[in-house]
Amino acid sequence: MVAIALGTGACRRRSPEERLLREFAGAYPTAARPNGTIHELDIVAAPTELPLLDGSGKLRVWAYNGQVPGPTLRIRLGDTLRVRFTNRLPQPTTIHWHGVRVPNGMDGVPHLTQPPVEPGGTFVYEITPKDAGTFWFHPHVRSSEQVERGLYGVLIVDDERPAPYDADVVWVLDDWLLDEQRQIFGQFNTMHDLMHDGRWGNVITVNGRTSERLQAHPGDRIRLRLVNSANGRIFKPDFGGLDVRILAVDGLYLREAIPYRGFELAPGNRLDLDIRFGTAASGLQPIVDRFYEQQTNHLADIVVDGVGARDPASERSFAPPAHGHVPAWREALAQPVTKQFRLNARRGGEHGIEWTINDAAFAGHDHAAPPALTMRAGTFQRLQFTNLSYRLHPIHLHGMFFRLLARNGVPVDEPFFRDTVLVHGQETVDLGLVPLDAGRWMMHCHILEHAEAGMMTTLEVLPPT
Ligand code: C2O
Ligand code: CU
Repeated sequence: MVAIALGTGACRRRSPEERLLREFAGAYPTAARPNGTIHELDIVAAPTELPLLDGSGKLRVWAYNGQVPGPTLRIRLGDTLRVRFTNRLPQPTTIHWHGVRVPNGMDGVPHLTQPPVEPGGTFVYEITPKDAGTFWFHPHVRSSEQVERGLYGVLIVDDERPAPYDADVVWVLDDWLLDEQRQIFGQFNTMHDLMHDGRWGNVITVNGRTSERLQAHPGDRIRLRLVNSANGRIFKPDFGGLDVRILAVDGLYLREAIPYRGFELAPGNRLDLDIRFGTAASGLQPIVDRFYEQQTNHLADIVVDGVGARDPASERSFAPPAHGHVPAWREALAQPVTKQFRLNARRGGEHGIEWTINDAAFAGHDHAAPPALTMRAGTFQRLQFTNLSYRLHPIHLHGMFFRLLARNGVPVDEPFFRDTVLVHGQETVDLGLVPLDAGRWMMHCHILEHAEAGMMTTLEVLPPT
């Protein structure tokens, strides 16, 4: 652990840690800057029936405000969101604001940051996001069941001056495991799910539909925000011949937009894309998931038609909004590893198999358990994850962003931060981070069955000295 030590000697050489912290300075703000605007709304979680999937039948789901995906909340950076939440489910629940740096008490983790909201109960979430970007919210109680049943929604925090895209579109990617009655298969955390990469469904949807279509016009510039809300499935979308650039990953902007060449979108990940359609564009582009090359999946279609075409002179030319401050951290791998985490499985526990972090399975949000790691805000940390299993583990940290430094010891130069990184079977990844927000934060696998079966722990961030 490295504290920020500001030397007094004018010509003192900086330590490597000080250089890493200098590179990080200004990456994202320490504090929220509330502008006084407050958006108040009610969110109710309740069972309902909806004509989802191909629209031919009624699917019994659990939904926020009667919709799946739940309502897309859109605010501006500096605005405050006040959500009066009511639980009308037959189970306790909470709302976790995935990727949003919130005060610890608003993080929606049962027992750790708040009591679970019992059936009939209420809770008020009030947050002023510190970062603009694409975020999402979902329960943190029995998530493998509650998220699978349809409880998730998107939170968009717009820039103070949003770029003038012709359209700003959200695609929530999910899959559903349906039984013969075309209803949600009612057994959760099955041995099969637990032994593999969680629950992978037999129907894939974008925004709850199997036939989502994005209509564009020649000359358009569209911002497309992808969110993976699946329990376990990884998507690797292929946009064919379209001109696509990555603007942001997990909410935060890149240094500059980079060409899209495929991305493993694991549960929890978000991706903001800038799609440019030439003035002569036309036709239909299927968007296909190629995570498993031998078993590809149709996700949605993008259709360009000439109706309302603009004249070539008016082609949209503005700089992509990506302007993130992302440290290069080339010296980060020379730093000692702060903490190593071994990811593995063993027999036992209430599900018959337990997923472990350093040989411990997290039992029911046990708030009495000491944190796996205590860090001081404003210090550089290098965390190393070694996956001793052959399964996938998208590791997610609450309350902080990190940079991927290496995979299997080979430096990786991703020009962006993340809050979730996919660790493949038998792989070791190194992350660098500087926590800024004090509190007790969860760290867990975002394959929700793995998390339910123990692959969770807590990290403590102490206030800066
Ligand atoms: Cu998407 Cu612990 O959360
Ligand atoms: Cu996992």
